[in-house]
Amino acid sequence: MFQSDLLQGQNILITGGGTGLGRAMAERFGGLGAGVGILGRRPEPLEETAGAISGAGGRAAWASADVRDPAKIAAAVDQMEGELGPFTGLVNNAAGNFLAPSEDLSPNAFDAVVQIVLYGTYHATMDLGRRWIERGGGGQILSIVTTYAWMGSSFVLPSACAKAGVLAMTRSLAVEWATYGIRSNAIAPGPFPTEGAFSRLAAAGFENEAKKMNPLGRFGEESELADLAAFLFSPMATYVNGECVVIDGGEWLKVGQEFSKYTDIPRDEMKAMMRAMKPKKG
Ligand code: COA
Repeated sequence: MFQSDLLQGQNILITGGGTGLGRAMAERFGGLGAGVGILGRRPEPLEETAGAISGAGGRAAWASADVRDPAKIAAAVDQMEGELGPFTGLVNNAAGNFLAPSEDLSPNAFDAVVQIVLYGTYHATMDLGRRWIERGGGGQILSIVTTYAWMGSSFVLPSACAKAGVLAMTRSLAVEWATYGIRSNAIAPGPFPTEGAFSRLAAAGFENEAKKMNPLGRFGEESELADLAAFLFSPMATYVNGECVVIDGGEWLKVGQEFSKYTDIPRDEMKAMMRAMKPKKG
């Protein structure tokens, strides 16, 4: 659907780019002409994803680093820039999360998720942001958040707190760093069935319930998210700054709307019910 050279001339670093939505974005960017740097903790998926991109004719580099460690990020970026050339874009995608009652969380459990999601995003953003400011050519940041960044959510308290922080970082830097030609945006995906985030939920039988909560009655497809991210990095979106684009089929609105449950009733049945509620004339 896009021109095959849409992202030509860009080099984009994706944290957590070896698996799931990170990999989907990496492959899409690589197929559209961008050099792709993927960073994560485990070498195997990184090497495999980079191999898939190169095998398809793209340019890719990978380096293993924990986003909680700024020195390791710096070394990884140095290595990948040595192979690809300077990065022009960053996707903060690396995340960690688990379902747990908040009262049972240890301080270390809260810390583990906040360190990965909020501090990891901060460390990667500062590393590339400072390079871009020094080089003077601008840059683009895209952070993956979620709708509970502003709604909050039960049973994922560390992630909700951290994602809210990432959204605040996105909007703060969109203004503060615009003077350097650096734009900052976010995507808030709804339910996308990636192995990392969904395998445990599916095992717990949440799949059908989750689909019912969605106005479109389905989960998102990885390619839909990858296309949105590609658009935001493309020359078509250069005036978009400080935005958080929701891609969830309208789920967060349905969850919050007073009468949205009526959309679950077959339409004829619902109409008959509403006609019966209408006061009779005379
Ligand atoms: N419920 C409650 N506490 C949990 C937990 C759970 N499901 N999973 C981990 N913790 C706690 C651990 O008990 C530990 O706390 P403690 O030292 O007080 O016991 C703390 O969190 C750190 O756990 P650890 O596994 O050592 O951390 P890590 O830094 O290696 O990894 C995560 C942290 C979040 C990445 C890890 O829990 C994980 O692998 N999660 C699933 C994969 C994932 O998140 N994928 C991405 C989906 S978006």
